[in-house]
Amino acid sequence: MSSLPYSSWPLILLLALWCMVARESNGASNNVKVGSISKVEDAENFHIYYGQTFKVIKNAIDGKSYLLIQNTSRMAVRTKYCTSRIKSYVIPLLNYSLDTQSSQGGVPVSFFELLGLLGSLKGITSDAVASPCLLKLCEAGEVVKIDKGEQQGQVLSQFAAHFISDTDQPQTCNFANFFPLSEGTPLQRAEWIKFLGAFTNLETKANQVYDAVKASYTCLSQMAANKTKSFKPIVAWMGYDQNGYMWSFTKDSHKLKFVEDAGGENIDKSINKVSYNVSDPDDLEALHAILCTVDAVIDETLSSDPQNYTQTTFLGNINVDDNSCFAFLANQSIWRYDKRVRNGTTLGKKVLKHCLFYVDLR
Ligand SMILES: *[C@@H]1O[C@H](CO)[C@@H](O)[C@H](O)[C@H]1NC(C)=O
Ligand SMILES: *[C@@H]1O[C@H](CO)[C@@H](O)[C@H](O)[C@H]1NC(C)=O
Ligand SMILES: *[C@@H]1O[C@H](CO)[C@@H](O)[C@H](O)[C@H]1NC(C)=O
Ligand SMILES: *[C@@H]1O[C@H](CO)[C@@H](O)[C@H](O)[C@H]1NC(C)=O
Ligand SMILES: *[C@@H]1O[C@H](CO)[C@@H](O)[C@H](O)[C@H]1NC(C)=O
Ligand SMILES: *[C@@H]1O[C@H](CO)[C@@H](O)[C@H](O)[C@H]1NC(C)=O
Ligand SMILES: *[C@@H]1O[C@H](CO)[C@@H](O)[C@H](O)[C@H]1NC(C)=O
Repeated sequence: MSSLPYSSWPLILLLALWCMVARESNGASNNVKVGSISKVEDAENFHIYYGQTFKVIKNAIDGKSYLLIQNTSRMAVRTKYCTSRIKSYVIPLLNYSLDTQSSQGGVPVSFFELLGLLGSLKGITSDAVASPCLLKLCEAGEVVKIDKGEQQGQVLSQFAAHFISDTDQPQTCNFANFFPLSEGTPLQRAEWIKFLGAFTNLETKANQVYDAVKASYTCLSQMAANKTKSFKPIVAWMGYDQNGYMWSFTKDSHKLKFVEDAGGENIDKSINKVSYNVSDPDDLEALHAILCTVDAVIDETLSSDPQNYTQTTFLGNINVDDNSCFAFLANQSIWRYDKRVRNGTTLGKKVLKHCLFYVDLR
């Protein structure tokens, strides 16, 4: 049995798929023991179901079922699905490639690092990545950069899987939509490590990582919740767009949730205007007034020279002469987006006060 046309399958597709696979695998003598399984508790955009010699990931990102067939199953050599509803992959993946270049930031590499999977990574689409380990592999030629162009699709189709986060591109059969950033809360994003664990039979490890992240997140947010202060610190999470002279307060749900879970209060609650043009005097005055009411600022302005982005740069960007009313300056509570940048240095050395923490696994 090879590729069959299933375009007319009814909605009970998954059930039908299970039946077929069950029939297929009854004959397989060499059943793989899946020692551990993952259960998706928090994430909303994928689910995993387990059979004897296969797994099914229901992926809400592309609406497809990914049939992951164990390499020891007879089905592995005989079956290949690539329809509008099902894709199949032979697991554990022998090799894979990553789309590290996309409008949405590319596939987050840290998930793969945490599972120890960089050894079978063979290709990336951009080397603008933070991971020092991945950069080393690139230098050594272990991982190749596959540039956009006519050949790209053909080269990428040779890998057992190509993970992408930008769903707007043409996809071949081996493409897998791995999109943690589609989720609305930090923990939901982190749980996508289980998605990768399923592709590599590393469920045990993936569960450990997620359980540790969740335990730590939950503990910190409980500590923050237990603080019985009469006022919560007001936090402005904002960024500046140099081209349009615009400052905007974040609307991203996972960032707002971070602030709340960390025991802060979002400025968003009280202010309905989101963007301020600093070259408009009225906007500037309004922005200035708002900033005088906040206790902490998280500045995630993109910078071409992140190491050089200091408090002075921030003040230059908000374009005010008199900053004496800014409590967050007196308290040293201006924080930069705390994640790895290309050279492997962190932007904000400051440990976030008030239990603010960041679990974005990028
Ligand atoms: C299946 O994958 C495992 C792990 O990569 C490998 O050791 C084994 O040789 C593979 N078996 C087959 C039949 O391909
Ligand atoms: C990747 O693995 C596939 C089997 O899944 C194999 O056919 C292919 O040659 C491998 N490609 C590289 C670059 O190792
Ligand atoms: C928070 O308070 C609850 C109830 O008072 C207590 O059981 C829990 O241990 C506290 N958690 C932390 C992390 O302090
Ligand atoms: C902000 O104002 C300046 C000057 O009026 C203008 O050039 C710029 O386009 C405005 N930015 C946006 C995003 O509208
Ligand atoms: C800022 O510092 C002042 C004076 O040290 C203090 O009273 C206030 O509570 C601090 N605010 C925050 C949010 O830490
Ligand atoms: C970084 O800042 C220093 C001091 O302001 C300046 O001399 C230097 O040119 C800046 N570096 C870059 C690459 O802009
Ligand atoms: C960052 O890396 C680039 C090239 O790898 C190097 O030229 C540059 O000096 C580094 N910058 C810093 C601040 O280390």
